[in-house]
Amino acid sequence: TKALILVGGYGTRLRPLTLSRPKPLVEFANKPMILHQIEALVTVGVREVILAVSYRAEQMEKEMSDEAKKLGVQLVFSHESEPLGTAGPLALAKHLLANEQNQPFFVLNSDIICEYPFKDLIAFHKSHGREGTIVVTKVEEPSKYGVVMYDEDTGRIESFIEKPQEFVSNKINAGIYILNPSVLDRIKLEPTSIEKEVFPFMAQDGQLYAFNLKGFWMDVGQPKDFLTGMCMYLTSLKTRSPTLLYSADGVVGNVLVDPTATIGEGCKIGPNVTIGPNVTVEDGACLRRCTILAGATVKSHTWLDSCIIGWRSVVGCWVRMENTTVLGEDVIVKDELYINGGQVLPHKSISTSVPDPQIIM
Ligand code: GTP
Ligand code: GTP
Repeated sequence: TKALILVGGYGTRLRPLTLSRPKPLVEFANKPMILHQIEALVTVGVREVILAVSYRAEQMEKEMSDEAKKLGVQLVFSHESEPLGTAGPLALAKHLLANEQNQPFFVLNSDIICEYPFKDLIAFHKSHGREGTIVVTKVEEPSKYGVVMYDEDTGRIESFIEKPQEFVSNKINAGIYILNPSVLDRIKLEPTSIEKEVFPFMAQDGQLYAFNLKGFWMDVGQPKDFLTGMCMYLTSLKTRSPTLLYSADGVVGNVLVDPTATIGEGCKIGPNVTIGPNVTVEDGACLRRCTILAGATVKSHTWLDSCIIGWRSVVGCWVRMENTTVLGEDVIVKDELYINGGQVLPHKSISTSVPDPQIIM
C-alpha cells in the first residue's frame, strides 16, 4: 500500500511559525507533524509515501530524507508548479498511485493529529468493496465544518452539508482517506477540491463510505487548536507509552521534555507542556500548556500559560505571557513584560508590554 500526504498548503493560519518552516515540518510534540503520520503509516506496512508539495520542497526533502532512511520508507516528492488544491495533486501523481493489482492508497491532510486507524481502515475499506472510505470524527461544534450524512449501520455516505445552521450531524471529514485507483479517473489535473468536487459525486454514486474514528482528533493547523491538540496527544501518550513522559520534582501532569533540554531549580512545569531539543528553562520558571520549540530560552521566574515559543527565541526573566501568544523564530522578549496574546513575527525584539492580543511585526 502507498500513501500520499498533501503538504502543499501555505499554512497561513499557523503564522508566524510557518514563516520559518513549512507547516508539515513544524514540530508537534517534538516531532515534525508529518513524521507522526509517516511513522504510523510504516507500522501498517506502507513503504512508499508520496509528498505532494507546491512550495519549499527542498527544505522538506533535506530534512525528511534521514528520517525516511531510518524508518525504511521511500519518500517520493510530487512537485506542483501551481497549487492544485486537495484533489489535483492526486491527478498529478496518477502514474505513482495507479497499479495493476488495483491496490488502494491512503490520502492524508498533513496537520491531522489522532491515533491513526490505518489497519482498521484498510479492513473496513476491503469489507465494503466500494471506491473510497473517508474517516469521520465527532466534533462539538459542527457548524464550523462540513458535516457528513451517512448510514450508521453500513457506513454508506448519503451527502455532505457545508456549515449546517441547524443540527443535522456532528460527524465531520477527518482528513484521512483510503481510495481505489479508479477514483483517479474522477479527478482532472487542475486546481480541485476533493471535499467539494470529488467526494459529493462519489457519494451520489454510492461509492463512498464513512469510517468512524475512535479517540481524539485535532486539526492542529492554527495556534489555538495546536495547543488543544497537544493536550489531547499527551493524554493519549500517557495511556499508550507513559515512559516517554517526563517526571521530576515540580512536574505536574503530562509533560514531554527532550533529553538535551536543561531545566533549572524550583521550576513548575505542567500540565501539558512540550519542551524541545536544546531548550533552556531557568530557575523558578512556571510553564503551563505550552510548546517550547528547539533552542529557545525561558529565563528565571517567568510565567507562561498557553504559549508557543519559536525556535531560538529568548524570553526574559519575570515575564508573564499567556492567552495563546505565539513567538516566531528568534524573537526576544525583554525582562518583566506582560504579553497577553497575539503573534510576534520572527527576529523581532519586544521591549514594551502588550496588554491586548495583536500581531507584532
Ligand atoms: P492555511 O493556509 O492555514 O489555510 O493552511 P493550508 O494551506 O495548509 O490549508 P488547509 O489546512 O486547509 O489544507 C489542508 C491540507 O491540504 C494541508 O495538508 C495542506 O498542506 C494541503 N494543501 C492545501 N492546498 C494544497 C495544494 O494546493 N497543494 C497541495 N499539494 N496540498 C495542499
Ligand atoms: P474559535 O473557533 O477559535 O473561536 O474557538 P473554539 O471554541 O471552537 O476553539 P476550541 O479550541 O475550543 O476548539 C477548536 C475546535 O476543536 C472546535 O471546533 C471544537 O469543536 C473542536 N474540539 C474541541 N474539543 C474537541 C474534542 O475533544 N474532540 C474533537 N474531535 N474536537 C474537539
